[in-house]
Amino acid sequence: MCGIIGYNGKENAIPILIEGLKSLEYRGYDSSGIAYFTNNKIKIFKEQGRIEELEKILVSDDTNIGIGHTRWATHGRPNNINAHPHKVGNVTLVHNGIIENYHELKEELLKKGYTFKSETDTEVAAALVDDLIKTKENIISGLAKLKNILKGSYAFAILFDFDPDNIYALRYGSPLIVAESSIGNFIASDIPAILKYTKNYYLIDDSIAVITKDKIKFYLNNQEIHKEKLTFNHDIMSATKGGYSHFMLKEINEEPELVDKYLKYYLNNLELIPSISKYKKIYIVACGSAYHASLIGSYLIEKYLNIETKVELASEFRYKKNFLKKDDLVILVSQSGETADTIASLRLAKETTKTLGIVNVVGSTIARESQEVIYINAGCEIAVATTKAFTLQVLTFSMLIYKELLKIDPELSKEVLNDYNKLSQEIRKLINIDYKDIVNKISKHKDVFFIGRLIDYYLALEGSLKLKEISYIHSETYAAGELKHGTISLIEENTPVISVLTDKSIYEKTISNIKETKARGAYSLVIKRECLNIASDVYDDLIEIPDLSDLTTCVLSVIPMQLLAYYVALNLGYDIDKPRNLAKSVTVE
Ligand code: F6R
Repeated sequence: MCGIIGYNGKENAIPILIEGLKSLEYRGYDSSGIAYFTNNKIKIFKEQGRIEELEKILVSDDTNIGIGHTRWATHGRPNNINAHPHKVGNVTLVHNGIIENYHELKEELLKKGYTFKSETDTEVAAALVDDLIKTKENIISGLAKLKNILKGSYAFAILFDFDPDNIYALRYGSPLIVAESSIGNFIASDIPAILKYTKNYYLIDDSIAVITKDKIKFYLNNQEIHKEKLTFNHDIMSATKGGYSHFMLKEINEEPELVDKYLKYYLNNLELIPSISKYKKIYIVACGSAYHASLIGSYLIEKYLNIETKVELASEFRYKKNFLKKDDLVILVSQSGETADTIASLRLAKETTKTLGIVNVVGSTIARESQEVIYINAGCEIAVATTKAFTLQVLTFSMLIYKELLKIDPELSKEVLNDYNKLSQEIRKLINIDYKDIVNKISKHKDVFFIGRLIDYYLALEGSLKLKEISYIHSETYAAGELKHGTISLIEENTPVISVLTDKSIYEKTISNIKETKARGAYSLVIKRECLNIASDVYDDLIEIPDLSDLTTCVLSVIPMQLLAYYVALNLGYDIDKPRNLAKSVTVE
């Protein structure tokens, strides 16, 4: 979702801003723009569509300071007028987030004589800043007032006509970092945009950052403050494609090594995995794939630890009546740590209970605001469709249970540990399967069904989401037992039905459901655990998952579905890493 870049330094700003915008493309966008000072005057260029369209209209100029933006439309259509930067009076600004009270603010600003060209909340924010700040001396105190006026979430990078030497940045609820490097200083929505120049960065938090050519200053309550420099410890390769044709394929291929590293790290530092057995009830709150990982987690926690566990969609949880009690635990699962609904759910939960974040991005809002946090250590995940983060989220639930098994069932914990040691090599084998034939069969269809029961249903939900989000093939998931309550009427000759069979306790029931679809002409692809016996007339194609213990098989089962989705989208020629209308980090509700 919207990306921000800013540069102030020795080099020409234009190519640096464009390159920064390209490195933020993965966040999803539909227009882009830049603004810079040249001869102390602001110039703005913006264009609908890809950054390449923006490049076509740029001119060469002498400039060392500027800001840039990729916009993912929320208020108003994706066109040139609504694209950022927006200039009102002396203020040029780019924005990520949503200003919820922009209507009221607009009314007041209209009365003061401001006029608006776009439909955006951002132009209103630019007018507000212009109204508040008339001279260079008032910038810091004026920007500090925004916190009490704006409702919603925002990250801003701002240029003032009367201060051509500095960029100003502030945020609330939307991500923004600043970084110093040998060629100059940066503002960015995310780390990949600065990695070419530096691994060191600062979080802005509640402060106002002033980015000069050779220094970054932070102000809180109108006083200059000191901030700790942070270092991005992952390999720089984790933000580049490293020879793979797509980030998604690269990220799937990283899974064996990441799982290995994760296990080595946490098995040697088990104290970093909090104990959950003391809680009476656990809630897990998340969105999208993280929600699917949570469903898997809840199933396993209930099965192995006997703790009632409820999974909630963050976008629902935050608005409905809750029954949280002070001895419950709320787990928030989020790759980015910046998903707006999950953040809101966290803040709500904190009023009553303990919170635990399962997060990838270090220093993100959910990581910082949760009382406890487990980092999944997936490195940068760039492809919009999550793969490695999902796998590590599921592994984290497995690990939470493993820690308790050490106390309550040492025998089983030994078995799990033994299987953890096999995990990465088994993932590698699943990655190396030849999926071509199956991919060709599925690619031809407009509709696909995924079925499964219990944990296999949750895995199927993730497989189906992966397929539809990048291949645009319509795909539905059904708890297999629900098929005959209506949906089976949709099965026609050759309709693909992909069934997940890994749960020993229930797979025979699912087999009966597969047979019902086969009897109506379905093409049946079965993804099953090796040890489960099924007759050859149940499937047309078969993918087998190695038979490890439940707490490790759950990590393996999704891998073939991630790869199927990838290869089907590749076969159909789609833009795999940047599916239409989707954003990597959903920072608006
Ligand atoms: C799907 C996908 C999304 C995210 C969801 C939550 O492939 O990536 O469904 O899982 O937007 O994002 P995070 O985990 O960043 O909170």
